[in-house]
Amino acid sequence: MSEPSPMSSNDTPAEEAAAVGQGDRAMSIDVVSIFPEYLAGLQLSLIGKAVERGQLGLNVHDLRDFTFDRHNTVDDSPYGGGAGMVMKAEPWALALEHILAGRPAGEAKPTLIVPSPAGEVFDQRIAEDLASRQHLVFACGRYEGIDQRVIDWAGERFELRPMSIGDYVLNGGEVASMVMIEAISRLIPGVIGNPESLTEESHEDGLLEYPIFTKPASWRGRDVPEILLSGNHAAIARWRRDRRLEKTAEVRPDLLARLTDLSGEDLAALERFESERGTVTE
Ligand code: ADE
Repeated sequence: MSEPSPMSSNDTPAEEAAAVGQGDRAMSIDVVSIFPEYLAGLQLSLIGKAVERGQLGLNVHDLRDFTFDRHNTVDDSPYGGGAGMVMKAEPWALALEHILAGRPAGEAKPTLIVPSPAGEVFDQRIAEDLASRQHLVFACGRYEGIDQRVIDWAGERFELRPMSIGDYVLNGGEVASMVMIEAISRLIPGVIGNPESLTEESHEDGLLEYPIFTKPASWRGRDVPEILLSGNHAAIARWRRDRRLEKTAEVRPDLLARLTDLSGEDLAALERFESERGTVTE
């Protein structure tokens, strides 16, 4: 096996958990990739700090460590012909077995997330759901994808979640995994210093965020909206809610259509924006 990459450790999750105390850890994340260096960005900022504090276990594994030929081969040509290469089943099975073997006793079936443009579309609801899991494993495919047989094999050992981050095609699963890991891990209690900052974010309750401002009150001839300087908290809260409704109606009417708990005031505000917009475009 080759030298571990900067982020990877050859410790199993159980060995690593023992080192920091499993009791403190809300979640373990394993990532398997042929480019473990890609994931180095996760060492920075809030997620890196959560890993340092032992609130989050993060292990990045190099798929090539689970190959035994001279060239550390992970791909081959597709049966049936066609462009590109396919990732071989055996290195994936060995990597996933290594992760399974290192699980702490009594752990629930880990969730295996396979980033793919053909997966279910990842969103904030899914991030919240996955944030409650004990153990997530991300399998970053490259080339045309992974041999279907090892995906089916893994489906018997993991809770399998093929997941897309949007309707476009990336070169591999690494960037998609980083997107999902960041969205999920910031929801784990203790990872973000001020949990209140999570409550009024875009997508948290189906509305986009209100605009925000800081000092100075007047900048290059542009003033902060008067109401924010008023000290009237109820009026500020209503103004912010209206801005969220207005913005969502303007750029994401699909989100608005899904909301079922709008108040009478909300509906009146939306009608007002609608008629104002009608007047502007007439
Ligand atoms: N791999 C390639 N494209 C992807 C996408 N849109 N989402 C997740 N994984 C991918």
